[in-house]
Amino acid sequence: MAVRYVIALSVLMMLLNCDYCSTYKPNITAAGGKGPCVVDACMTEIAKIMQNVIGRDISTFIRRIGYVESQFGAHGNTYRENYHGGIWQLDEDGFLETQAIGSHSYLQGKLDFIKTTLGIDWLKVTWQDMRKPLYSAIASLLYLGNISPIIPPDSDINGQAQYWKDHYNTQSGEGTVQHFTDNVQLLEGPNGPKCHIRRKSGIRTRRRSHARRQNDFFFSL
Ligand SMILES: *[C@@H]1O[C@H](CO)[C@@H](O)[C@H](O)[C@H]1NC(C)=O
Repeated sequence: MAVRYVIALSVLMMLLNCDYCSTYKPNITAAGGKGPCVVDACMTEIAKIMQNVIGRDISTFIRRIGYVESQFGAHGNTYRENYHGGIWQLDEDGFLETQAIGSHSYLQGKLDFIKTTLGIDWLKVTWQDMRKPLYSAIASLLYLGNISPIIPPDSDINGQAQYWKDHYNTQSGEGTVQHFTDNVQLLEGPNGPKCHIRRKSGIRTRRRSHARRQNDFFFSL
C-alpha cells in the first residue's frame, strides 16, 4: 500500500512539474509569454471586447499581425532591452495613441468597456506593460480601432499586408508587404504553429469528454 502511495505521489509531482503543464493555462498577464497557446488565450480574451472596440471580428488579422511582428513572441528580438512592444510589437508612439482619448472620439467609451469587461484600467497601463501578451493584444486592437480605413477581408492577404504596412508597421518600420504575406503563408500553412491538444494513444472511449480530460498539451512552432 505504502509503495503504491509513494508512486502515485511521485507521478503527481511529475505532472505538476512537467514542462508543458505551464502552457495548459498560459498566464497571459505574465511578461515575456510566447507561442500559439499564449496567442490563442489572448484571442479568447480580446474576443470579449472586439465588437465594442472594432465593430466586427478581426481576430484573423490580429493573429496574422502577432505572427508577422514577432512569430508569436518566439522571435529572439521580441523582448529585447528597452523595447516593450511585446508580441504585437506596437511602438511607444502607437501605444500612446491607445490612450489619447482627446484625439479619438469613441476611445473613452471603449476604455470604459475594457474596464468593466476585463478589469483593466487602460489609462494606468504603461508601454512596459506590453511585455504582457494580453496587454500587447489589447493595444493592437485599440490601435486599429482608432484608424478609419476599413481593414481588407481575410481573403485579401495582399490587401491586409498593404494595410499593415501603411498603418501598423508604417514607414518607420522595416517590414515589407512581402514579409507579411510570406509569414501569413507560413502561419496558415500545414506546418504553421498550432496550440495542439494531443490525445494519449490508447485512450479511446466512447465518452469523448472523459477522453478529453486525459489529453496531453503541448505546442509547436
Ligand atoms: C500571472 O503572472 C503575474 C505576473 O507574474 C502574476 O502576478 C499573476 O499572479 C499570475 N497569475 C496567475 C493566475 O498565475
